[in-house]
Amino acid sequence: MTLLNELKKPLTNEFKEFQRVFRLSVKSSVPLLDVIMQYILKAKGKQIRPLIVLYSAKLFDEINDSTYRAATLIELLHTASLVHDDVVDDSDRRRGIFSINALWKNKIAVLVGDYLLSRGMLTALQAKDYRTLEIVSEAVKEMSEGELLQIEKARKLDIDESIYYEIIRKKTASLLASCFATGAASATKDKNDIKKMWKIGEYTGMAFQIKDDIFDLEKSNIIGKPTGIDIKEKKMTLPLIYLLNNSSIFEKRKIINIVKRHNTNNAKVGWLINEIANSGGIVYATDKMIEYKSRALKLLKELPENESRIALEKIIDFTIDRKK
Ligand code: IPE
Ligand code: IPE
Ligand code: MG
Ligand code: MG
Repeated sequence: MTLLNELKKPLTNEFKEFQRVFRLSVKSSVPLLDVIMQYILKAKGKQIRPLIVLYSAKLFDEINDSTYRAATLIELLHTASLVHDDVVDDSDRRRGIFSINALWKNKIAVLVGDYLLSRGMLTALQAKDYRTLEIVSEAVKEMSEGELLQIEKARKLDIDESIYYEIIRKKTASLLASCFATGAASATKDKNDIKKMWKIGEYTGMAFQIKDDIFDLEKSNIIGKPTGIDIKEKKMTLPLIYLLNNSSIFEKRKIINIVKRHNTNNAKVGWLINEIANSGGIVYATDKMIEYKSRALKLLKELPENESRIALEKIIDFTIDRKK
């Protein structure tokens, strides 16, 4: 059994309940939307975010209806962000199959993303889950800012490490942070603990995105997309930034030229991937990833010691040990 399934097992019933609520909340009477929703439901992804929401509630008290709604809202937003991200990145693969934009084109993918977002928000609003909405809206704002900042930097290719961390904190870590925070908020009123949970999620999310960056440079295809796609998308990842910071002015010029003008040339991208590995860029990124993971675990130790905490520790470990 995979590690993730093992982690889902103690919450089998709760997870089923989440999936029921999730399915209900994407039902549509518009035929085209319904077809696309069925497609999205079939290729579900890891669903690690709802799992975090559930355990984050259980860390403090019982899982309740508002916990399920928070888990649903976040998975809907996550799905929306991926549908939009694939438009932004012009990516035709997602979760091992064709992306929505690849099958239905950008126009439809944009609208489907908006639909998912609004369905999520409406579900929470109807139930008057204002605290959840407050936390999650912050994450949505940050995600958009992060994606835009990334585009801006990709144009100029003038990104240094601190900007990289800002980008990933916003585009990825904020949503992971809201998983820990909304889960907690559905089961405790302690503001300090909720804040702490947000921070734990933020560190976890940083590690999670660095892992995603490293995946792109590894020779496997199990994440369902071709390797080197980040370079093809002119996305500045941590290993690439490391290489740039440790290159001579001439090498730097050559690398930037490839990213800017030859980013679809397989041979040149292959050369660059090799350079990144030889420079120690992947090792460097791995160290940073472990550092963020450790920060998350350290903070988690300050919270109640119980089975849910152990499960959350394992989930945090999983974010960097995962195979997809
Ligand atoms: C992918 O997230 C997007 C990133 C933040 C890197 P996941 O890896 O959680 O995607 P799914 O839901 O399992 O497909
Ligand atoms: C992840 O961005 C999606 C969001 C955080 C919105 P990326 O473009 O880096 O991730 P993948 O590799 O396509 O999932
Ligand atoms: Mg992408
Ligand atoms: Mg992207």
